[in-house]
Amino acid sequence: MTEDARERKKTIVSGARPSGRLHLGNYIGALQNWKQLQEHYRCYYFIADWHALTTGYADSHEIKESSREMLLDWLGAGLDPEQAVLFRQSEVKEHAELFLLLAMITPISWLERCPTFKEQLRELEGKEINNYGFLGYPLLQAADILAYRADAVPVGEDQLPHLEITRDTARRFNYLYGKTLPEPEALLGKYPLLPGIDSRKMSKSYDNYIALADPPETIREKVRRMITDPRRVRRNDPGRPEVCTVYRFQEIFNPAEGAPLEDSCRTAEIGCVQCKEILARRLIEMLAPLQEKRHSLEQQPAYLEEVLREGEKRAREEARATLEAVRGAMGL
Ligand code: TRP
Ligand code: SF4
Repeated sequence: MTEDARERKKTIVSGARPSGRLHLGNYIGALQNWKQLQEHYRCYYFIADWHALTTGYADSHEIKESSREMLLDWLGAGLDPEQAVLFRQSEVKEHAELFLLLAMITPISWLERCPTFKEQLRELEGKEINNYGFLGYPLLQAADILAYRADAVPVGEDQLPHLEITRDTARRFNYLYGKTLPEPEALLGKYPLLPGIDSRKMSKSYDNYIALADPPETIREKVRRMITDPRRVRRNDPGRPEVCTVYRFQEIFNPAEGAPLEDSCRTAEIGCVQCKEILARRLIEMLAPLQEKRHSLEQQPAYLEEVLREGEKRAREEARATLEAVRGAMGL
């Protein structure tokens, strides 16, 4: 890429806490979007291993392995280290320096009234998360983003409060020290929310997910357990695709073959067993290339290390330049 083209390309930053093996919800919710963006933007995608500590500090020994698993799925799903910069947050210390500097100008009330903070305190009741790092979660995220002077951040709706804090912090910095940090925009994907096999939102914590790395037999078995139309008890009962989880999957993952089954379901021409077989076959076929890639990468630990080392080098370069500008603006 010429310097000129590089200048014109917008910068995208996004991260994910290392959650181990990813599932289909992660895939359509974020990964697919990240993959498309990497072709048109300068993308920085990182494993937010420090963020994992904010609530999981007691399980710190699991972070390395979860990070490796997630990276395998990233690469398997088509994130390309030649295009996007892939790295671990904890290997780019500039995030920590910027976090510290921004902490000086961030009112505590911004963090205390952040809806995700209040919600997590409620949800994780009983878990000791009265730690300072947890309160600072959104500010660390702001540092992640501002360290690359990002133009846009692809995230789910749940992250909007953190983007708000990021922009407020950039604005406050610019107000105090002169225009240095651009205010990034959120890039909300149009991704459909994916239900899990029990029809609640697909999530690791509900144990209702289909992992990208699930072998064919596991996929078949999970699809067999999927909730269908509860009123369709007997084979001859007409079905209602609009309330059926299997049908949601057909629409999203099998538009050519599965979506047209709508009428056959309503007229009870097709039974759920067959409908599920069609879906399972499609999912297995769709995930095969991804799993093949993952499998071959598993045999190449040196290559994985290399990807991260290279990404970290590129990330550091950019973050270093930002920190120089930040220190300069502050007169340090
Ligand atoms: N908080 C994000 C999540 O839970 C992860 C994250 C950390 C992030 N830093 C970020 C996302 C910076 C976008 C940009 O999904
Ligand atoms: Fe759902 Fe398919 Fe059964 Fe209809 S036939 S209820 S779409 S699983």
